[in-house]
Amino acid sequence: MLAETIFFCGLTTTNYFSCILSVSYDYFGANSAMAILKVLNFPDPRLRAKALPVEKIDSKVKEIAGNMLDIMYAKNGIGLAATQVNIQQRIVVIDLSEEKNEPLILINPKITKLVGSGTMREGCLSVPDYYDIIERAEYIEFCYKTLDDEVITSNADGLLAVCIQHEIDHLDGKLFIDYLSLLKRQRLKKKIDKQEKLQQKTL
Ligand code: NI
Repeated sequence: MLAETIFFCGLTTTNYFSCILSVSYDYFGANSAMAILKVLNFPDPRLRAKALPVEKIDSKVKEIAGNMLDIMYAKNGIGLAATQVNIQQRIVVIDLSEEKNEPLILINPKITKLVGSGTMREGCLSVPDYYDIIERAEYIEFCYKTLDDEVITSNADGLLAVCIQHEIDHLDGKLFIDYLSLLKRQRLKKKIDKQEKLQQKTL
C-alpha cells in the first residue's frame, strides 16, 4: 500500500512538473515571439511580399521596431525592413552611426523625389556574404511617421539616401540583387544553391 502511494505521488509530481514546464514554455513563447524574429534569406519567397501601411502606431508597432533594431545591431547591419523578418508592415529601422546609438525608425516611409544617380557597393542581411555595385538616385526627398505619430519630411544624400531606397525596396518585395544583370543573378543563385546542398549534406 505504501509503495503504491509513493509510486502514485511520484507520477503526480512528474506530471505536475512537466505541466508547469509546458505552461512556462508557452507563456514565454507567446510573450517573446518578437524577440526571436529571424532574418529571412534570399531566395525565400516571403521576401517578395508587399508590406502594408501601418494603420495605427501602437505598443505592438513600437515593440516590433525595438526588436528590429536589436536584430539589426546584433547582425552588424545598418538597415532592416520589417519584410526581412517576415512582418508585412511598412516599418524600417536604420542606424548609420559608428556608436550604433542614432536609430532612425521610419513608419510608412515614402520617397517623394529622386534626383540624379550614383553608385555604391551594397550588401544586405537577407543576402549574406554578397556585395555589389548598385546604381540609385543620389539625392532623395522622403517622408515618414515617427513612433510618436509625427509626420516628418526630410531629404538625404550619400549613404542615407542609398539605405532608405534599399529598405523601401524591401517593403515592396524588391532586393538589391534585382538590379544586377541576369548573368550575375544566375551566378549568385548557383552559388546559393551549392551552399544549401552543402549545408543539407552536413546536417
Ligand atoms: Ni537589405
